[in-house]
Amino acid sequence: MPKITINGRDLEFEKGQTILQVALDHEIEIPHYCYHPGLSIVANCRICLAEVHAPNPKTGELEAIPKLMPTCQTACGEGQVVYTDSPKSIANQKAVMEYLLINHPVDCPVCDQAGECHLQDYSYQYGRSESRFQEEKIKQPKKDVGHHVLLYSDRCIMCTRCVRFTREITGTGELMVEGRGAKEQIDIFPGLPLNNELSANVIDICPVGALLDKDFLFQQRVWFLTKTPSIDGITASGDNISIEHNKGVIYRLKPRTNVDVNKWWITDEVRYGWKFIHREDRLRLPIIKGEDAFSDGEAPLAYATAYETVNEKMRAAKRPALLVSPMLSCEDAYLLASYAMGVNPQTVLAVGPVPTSGQDKSFPGGFTLYAEKAPNARGVRRVLGKFAKNVLEFSAFEEALKKDAAIDALLLTGNYPSDWVTPGFTQAIDAQRGRFVALIDTLPTALTARADVVIPGATWAEKSGTFENAKGRLQAFARAIEPRDYCKGESQIALDLISLNGGEDAPNRRSDASSIRAQMASEHGLSEFAALVEPTSHEEEVQADMELVEL
Ligand code: SF4
Ligand code: FES
Repeated sequence: MPKITINGRDLEFEKGQTILQVALDHEIEIPHYCYHPGLSIVANCRICLAEVHAPNPKTGELEAIPKLMPTCQTACGEGQVVYTDSPKSIANQKAVMEYLLINHPVDCPVCDQAGECHLQDYSYQYGRSESRFQEEKIKQPKKDVGHHVLLYSDRCIMCTRCVRFTREITGTGELMVEGRGAKEQIDIFPGLPLNNELSANVIDICPVGALLDKDFLFQQRVWFLTKTPSIDGITASGDNISIEHNKGVIYRLKPRTNVDVNKWWITDEVRYGWKFIHREDRLRLPIIKGEDAFSDGEAPLAYATAYETVNEKMRAAKRPALLVSPMLSCEDAYLLASYAMGVNPQTVLAVGPVPTSGQDKSFPGGFTLYAEKAPNARGVRRVLGKFAKNVLEFSAFEEALKKDAAIDALLLTGNYPSDWVTPGFTQAIDAQRGRFVALIDTLPTALTARADVVIPGATWAEKSGTFENAKGRLQAFARAIEPRDYCKGESQIALDLISLNGGEDAPNRRSDASSIRAQMASEHGLSEFAALVEPTSHEEEVQADMELVEL
C-alpha cells in the first residue's frame, strides 16, 4: 500500500483518501470544522491547513508545496510528508481561531454546547489566551428555525455543514447562507422552516453552539451525562443511538455512527420518541383484579401473588396463549416462550400488532425512514418460530380468540410507546366468557382494567437485549438506566415464572442478555445469537465527566 508521513509517522493509505481522513483514522488530531465524513468537502474554514512536502514527479526530490494545503481536501500521495505541527501550520491555526472569535460572544457559561464544542476545545489547544480585538463585536440575532431547532447566529462560524446537510442528505434545502463578509449568517428561506423528518441532525453536526436543541435547552450540562450505546427501540430502523442520562433520567438521544445502518443520522421521531419512558402514569407495581392496590412496601408480596396467580391459571388452562409484542427483545421472546411452552407444549404463540405509518421514505443522502414502528417484529418471529411451526400474526390471533373457546388463559405483552389496544382486540378476548388475562405492559391501556393480573414491564432503555431490524440485522444493546420503580424486564419476569413452574433455573436467577443468547444458541439452534457482543459499560459506555453534588 502507498505510504504518507504525517508528523513523523509513516501511515498507509488507500487511493482517494485525504490527508485528514488518514490522520483521523490513526488518531492524529488535525483541527477541522467544515469537514464532516457524511458531507461534501468545501474546505472553507481553513483551520486544517498544513505544510505539505511532495516528491517532484520529474526529479523524485521532496519539495515543499509553497502554500499551506487544506488537509480535508488534499488527496494523499505516495511519499508525501505532512506537518500539522510546524511553525507555519500552528501560526495558521492560531490565526483562524483568532479570526473566528472576533465576533463570537464567548458566552460558554450559558451555552448548551459547552463541554462538547469544537470552538471551545480548539481555543484551548490552538487559540490565544486573550483577544486583541478592541472594537465592538457585531451582534447577530437568535432565530427559531424549526420545530426542534434554535439558531444562535452570533455563535456560528459559517462552516456550512448545516446547509450542506439539508441539500445533500435530506434534499429539502431549507437552510442557506445570507449576506456577505462579517455579516454573513445562516437562515431559512422565507416560509420554509427546518421541519424535515431528519431536521435535528443539524444540531449534532454543528461544531459550535449555534444550532441548539429546543428540547434539551438548559436541561443539563453535558459533562454530567453518561452515554450508553443502544439501538432504536421504537421503529424497525435498527439505528445505532446513544442514550444520554444522569441519575436514572434520560435527557437526550443522539445518533451513533454506523455507516452500514444509519450512517451519522437518526430521524426526529427516534430522537424524541423516548419520552414515554418517564411518563408519570407508567405502570409501576403488579395489580391483581378485585384486590386492593399494593403499596410500595409490598412490592415483593405483589410480585409473589401475581406470579402465583399467573402460573396457576396458565397451568390449569386447556390451551394457554402467549402474545409477544414486537417491542420486546429476542431474549424476552425466548424466555417468555420457554415458560409458556414449558407450562403447556400446545400453547398458542402469536406476535403482537406491528404498527406502521405511511410508507418507507428514502432520502437523497442514502438514509431511510421506516414505516414500521416496532423494533423487533422479525426477531420475535425468528425466535418464536423455533418453538412452534405455526406462529400467528396478530390478526390471525384475534380470529383464533373469537373462534376457539379452548384458548382460556392469555399471557399478553405490550410495551408500546402509546396505546396499542384496539376495541376489536378487547372484543376478541371477551368473545369467550371468563378468559384469564395476564398482561405485562408499561403504560395503562383499556386492557389494564380488563386484565386479571398486570405486571409492570421495562422499556428497552431499562434492559439489555437484541433487536432485528427491517433489513434482518441483529444488534445487541445495553441497559442505560434502571427499570422505573418496581418494574422488571420481561426476561426477568419470564425467568421468575420459569422458576415457579419448576424449571431447572434456580430461584432468583438474574436475567443477563449475553448468557441468554448463549443458551438460545446452544439449546434452540439460534446460533446467530452466539456471536453477538453486547456493548457493556466497560467497553463502550462513556461515563459522565463529573457528578453533581448537592451541598
Ligand atoms: S450554524 Fe453551525 S453548522 Fe451551520 S454554518 Fe453555523 S457553525 Fe456551521
Ligand atoms: S476542515 Fe479543512 S478547511 Fe475546514
